[in-house]
Amino acid sequence: MSAAGSGEPLGPPRSFAKRVLVTGGAGFIASHVIVSLVEDYPNYMIINLDKLDYCASLKNLETISNKQNYKFIQGDICDSHFVKLLFETEKIDIVLHFAAQTHVDLSFVRAFEFTYVNVYGTHVLVSAAHEAKVEKFIYVSTDEVYGGSLDKEFDESSPKQPTNPYASSKAAAECFVQSYWERYKFPVVITRSSNVYGPHQYPEKVIPKFISLLQHNRKCCIHGSGLQTRNFLYATDVVEAFLTVLKKGKPGEIYNIGTNFEMSVLQLAKELIQLIKETNSESEMENWVDYVNDRPTNDMRYPMKSEKIHGLGWRPKVPWEEGIKKTIEWYRENFHNWKNVEKALEPFPVQPSFV
Ligand SMILES: NC(=O)c1ccc[n+]([C@@H]2O[C@H](COP(=O)([O-])OP(=O)(O)OC[C@H]3O[C@@H](n4cnc5c(N)ncnc54)[C@H](O)[C@@H]3O)[C@@H](O)[C@H]2O)c1
Repeated sequence: MSAAGSGEPLGPPRSFAKRVLVTGGAGFIASHVIVSLVEDYPNYMIINLDKLDYCASLKNLETISNKQNYKFIQGDICDSHFVKLLFETEKIDIVLHFAAQTHVDLSFVRAFEFTYVNVYGTHVLVSAAHEAKVEKFIYVSTDEVYGGSLDKEFDESSPKQPTNPYASSKAAAECFVQSYWERYKFPVVITRSSNVYGPHQYPEKVIPKFISLLQHNRKCCIHGSGLQTRNFLYATDVVEAFLTVLKKGKPGEIYNIGTNFEMSVLQLAKELIQLIKETNSESEMENWVDYVNDRPTNDMRYPMKSEKIHGLGWRPKVPWEEGIKKTIEWYRENFHNWKNVEKALEPFPVQPSFV
């Protein structure tokens, strides 16, 4: 284990009101959550555990890396001795567990690695958290555990019917987490969120991939027909959802984090072409699109109800037009935040996905 970027010296923890462990904090969503927690909760110590995989970047955390209430620890959630020691030394009160293998396309070719990190790693973490008597354990799952649907909207009691290895590993991990509630009444909360977009997302995922391709004068590569639709939430809205669940989420409960804003991948490509290439001409737009082989399975839609989290006071606020403009601007300046990021733009094996 190695620690860096912290105002807090190594050794016995100083006194903070809460000590919060965020896993996967150098990745996309969790980096936004950490920045918000560090800035808005100076009396909380925020500990970021990340193994710094290919999609991670500590640049996502530059604005808070020297703050007194932030500490980065490089390590692997699958290393049970290390994780146990971490809970002993850091006296963790709350866990927000984001770390995972997240790229759906990759999950078809590296399925066992997804099972190992997402299922075994989560089991290691929840077991250590339980042993350490943590007061709240939030497991960040996905709408993909429901599988696809054309019209029936999923609520939290809908059955899990995942159709790809990524979604299956997230669903299996949920079962392990849930079992700690069933068996021990260990206070776990599970979230299932729609697709998230915004700054900091590694450009293997569909929105930053299309943006980066277009900004490099390359075509958007669309899986199959491009008629699959996805619901997109802006990063800051999702941060607020996690802070809501952190404060008000009830132990043993599952919360969908969704939005009615939905568009097809083809629509998405066209909209990005309009904004980046500044054209409305259908024929010019077609020149920026390339149709590639579809995934082995590709769910059509994930329609989801989110009344339960609305009941806690959360609603998405950022309009698409505003969120997508900020995202496009960010990638203009920050595409090189990751090592060898050009690889992410290649069509195979790393193709766009919707996680
Ligand atoms: N991005 C989305 O649209 C979306 C939607 C719903 C749910 N989720 C879930 O949210 C979480 C975060 O997603 P993201 O898109 O921000 O992910 P990401 O791929 O950007 O980041 C994942 C982070 O986890 C770290 N990590 C991976 N394996 C690790 C290990 N063994 N030990 C420690 N750290 C490890 C990586 O280094 C990386 O920083 C995931 O659990 C994902 O399933 C994401």
